[in-house]
Amino acid sequence: MRSTRNTYLVLFHILLFSLLSLKITASPRTQADALIRWKNTFSFQPSSLASWSLTNINNLCNWTSIVCDSAGTVSEINLSGENITGVLTEFNFTEFGTLTRFDLSTNNIEGIIPSDIARLTELEYLNLFNNYFNGTVPLQLSNLQKVWYLDLGANLLESPDWSNFSAMPSLQHLSLDLNELHLEFPSFVLNCRNLTYLDLSLNKLTGQIPELVFTNLGKLQYLNLTENQFHGPLSTNISKLSNLVQLRFASNKLGGPIPEDIGLLSDLQLLELFNNSFSGKIPTSLGQLKKLQILDLRPQYLKFDHTL
Ligand SMILES: *[C@@H]1O[C@H](CO)[C@@H](O)[C@H](O)[C@H]1NC(C)=O
Ligand SMILES: *[C@@H]1O[C@H](CO)[C@@H](O)[C@H](O)[C@H]1NC(C)=O
Ligand SMILES: *[C@@H]1O[C@H](CO)[C@@H](O)[C@H](O)[C@H]1NC(C)=O
Ligand SMILES: *[C@@H]1O[C@H](CO)[C@@H](O)[C@H](O)[C@H]1NC(C)=O
Ligand SMILES: *[C@@H]1O[C@H](CO)[C@@H](O)[C@H](O)[C@H]1NC(C)=O
Ligand SMILES: *[C@@H]1O[C@H](CO)[C@@H](O)[C@H](O)[C@H]1NC(C)=O
Ligand SMILES: *[C@@H]1O[C@H](CO)[C@@H](O)[C@H](O)[C@H]1NC(C)=O
Ligand SMILES: *[C@@H]1O[C@H](CO)[C@@H](O)[C@H](O)[C@H]1NC(C)=O
Ligand SMILES: *[C@@H]1O[C@H](CO)[C@@H](O)[C@H](O)[C@H]1NC(C)=O
Ligand SMILES: *[C@@H]1O[C@H](CO)[C@@H](O)[C@H](O)[C@H]1NC(C)=O
Repeated sequence: MRSTRNTYLVLFHILLFSLLSLKITASPRTQADALIRWKNTFSFQPSSLASWSLTNINNLCNWTSIVCDSAGTVSEINLSGENITGVLTEFNFTEFGTLTRFDLSTNNIEGIIPSDIARLTELEYLNLFNNYFNGTVPLQLSNLQKVWYLDLGANLLESPDWSNFSAMPSLQHLSLDLNELHLEFPSFVLNCRNLTYLDLSLNKLTGQIPELVFTNLGKLQYLNLTENQFHGPLSTNISKLSNLVQLRFASNKLGGPIPEDIGLLSDLQLLELFNNSFSGKIPTSLGQLKKLQILDLRPQYLKFDHTL
């Protein structure tokens, strides 16, 4: 009996030790090494990143674009607009489990978003806006359950099979605009019930706007589906999005009447439905929208020959 107990005790200590050493792996030193190794793969070395160097290896928390936590490990990397030409597959995600904010917006980063991104389990803010990321949006992004801000806009991303994505209950801001998304509305979004901002504009999405957008996403304040291929009627359930401030559905293939219930969206300041195929009367209820500043209901654009 006693020897079994001792065996368990020894096993427990081995386990504890391995967990501790795993934690210790990501030290300031190994993080600094990983950043330098990544930088060395850039095809152009920005002078702004001169501090990222082996001669300065002990000053990680003083490097440009880096913020540390109280333990001296990296909590933020902000390389927004630093003219980086490289790939994210060379970034060692294993080293950055401590990262909470990662901003790579407005660079020339190309290739896929690696599935290894799932290792950034503490991440709260991720901005990859305006790069050349391509391939499909990886399933593993949805494992980042603490992320509240996610901007993947202005890239070359394609629709994955959304069915296995997890809901992201913390997500408040999601931008996927100006990509190559096709097929139906991304189904996982319908379960991200904390969303206040959703931008799927400038893609090639088709099918109807799912009823669950209106019934599940009641916190939405900004909703932009402009310039896709959505068709079908506009549901009267639109009135359930009672927090809407801006609604942009322009340049789709929506049709039928504009529902009278749209007049119940009392916080609405902007309503853009232009360049669709709506028919029938303009709802008189629009007169109830006291905060409305911009209303654009122009019909489908007809080609206009200026030479006439
Ligand atoms: C960080 O850099 C500043 C100058 O940019 C310097 O004064 C300071 O000593 C540095 N701190 C560390 C810990 O290296
Ligand atoms: C990153 O830096 C830019 C300015 O260079 C700033 O506008 C942006 O808000 C920063 N991002 C984060 C996440 O703090
Ligand atoms: C930005 O990077 C490109 C190479 O990718 C380089 O040719 C150009 O000079 C850089 N611009 C600036 C302002 O550093
Ligand atoms: C990434 O970092 C881990 C942990 O420090 C290390 O074991 C691994 O070899 C590194 N991978 C690469 C590709 O450098
Ligand atoms: C993504 O971009 C990389 C590098 O630009 C290219 O080699 C690759 O073929 C592209 N992949 C897809 C799916 O477009
Ligand atoms: C989705 O999950 C199912 C069941 O877990 C699995 O069989 C399928 O291969 C997964 N599909 C993708 C695209 O990962
Ligand atoms: C949802 O968003 C609110 C802020 O609007 C935040 O306080 C709350 O923690 C979020 N919920 C989850 C589950 O993250
Ligand atoms: C979509 O609409 C939102 C809010 O109305 C706006 O902030 C955003 O800039 C629009 N997206 C594009 C690509 O114009
Ligand atoms: C509106 O949503 C309810 C569920 O909340 C549903 O039963 C109903 O069919 C929806 N209306 C339309 C027009 O789809
Ligand atoms: C009208 O919508 C169609 C289809 O979405 C689009 O191709 C076209 O560019 C739009 N026209 C204008 C002037 O926005």
